[in-house]
Amino acid sequence: MGKPLIIANWKMNFSVLEAESFAEFFVKNFTVSNVEPVIAPSFVFLQSVSSIFKSKVSLAAQNVSEKSKGSFTGEVSVDMVKPFCKYVLVGHSERRQFFSESNVLVAEKTLTILSAGLIPVICVGESADDHKWGKRDSVLLDQIQAVLKKVPQLDWSKLIFAYEPVWAIGSGQTPSVPEIEDAVSFIQKITLNHQQVLYGGSVSSKNAKEILSISLLSGLLVGSASLNVKEFLEILRIASNLRK
Ligand code: 13P
Repeated sequence: MGKPLIIANWKMNFSVLEAESFAEFFVKNFTVSNVEPVIAPSFVFLQSVSSIFKSKVSLAAQNVSEKSKGSFTGEVSVDMVKPFCKYVLVGHSERRQFFSESNVLVAEKTLTILSAGLIPVICVGESADDHKWGKRDSVLLDQIQAVLKKVPQLDWSKLIFAYEPVWAIGSGQTPSVPEIEDAVSFIQKITLNHQQVLYGGSVSSKNAKEILSISLLSGLLVGSASLNVKEFLEILRIASNLRK
């Protein structure tokens, strides 16, 4: 297992000044090793925060277009984010839910991200209803197989999956450790054990230690707790202590 990857998904939060002051506080106070912090800010802050974070933090885009360029008003291409980013989040449940992103579109975006030499972090997970009716595995299978159909098998090892059960996002509820373990090993089984899997959904400094004790996990995708710089630094400290 390499360094745990701890990704802060800022979603549609912060002004540019708030993003910059987070970055300034972070670079002064981030002292731990053995962990890779990643921040996924709004597109419009990528340039300014990257000049503050420099090599201390990798950046991720929260989304990109599946198209490479052209007349697609309001879209952002992978080449536009490439100067700043190492990773791109794709298929976040909020994109699937509020912007009707289908499994096929997520697969197309994944291919676009890989062709640009960036690393896709593909979010998968079941809704509250699917969870209730025991459909987790079939939902994960559909979401993941759509991606594996498009991406050549040689490139599967470059994919990172983030298991984010929709019902755990922003709810304060998380699956139990055995449930997360089971979902992660299911994802690894479908993908022939090639790639890293992260967990996301109501992660905070209170539960990070317990969740990261799952040795199959490669890291975390943190939403609201990542908006507080001290809280995010604390999660990084916990990750670094656990995986020394
Ligand atoms: P919360 O940590 O706020 O539940 O959000 C998780 C998430 O959606 C990260 O991508």
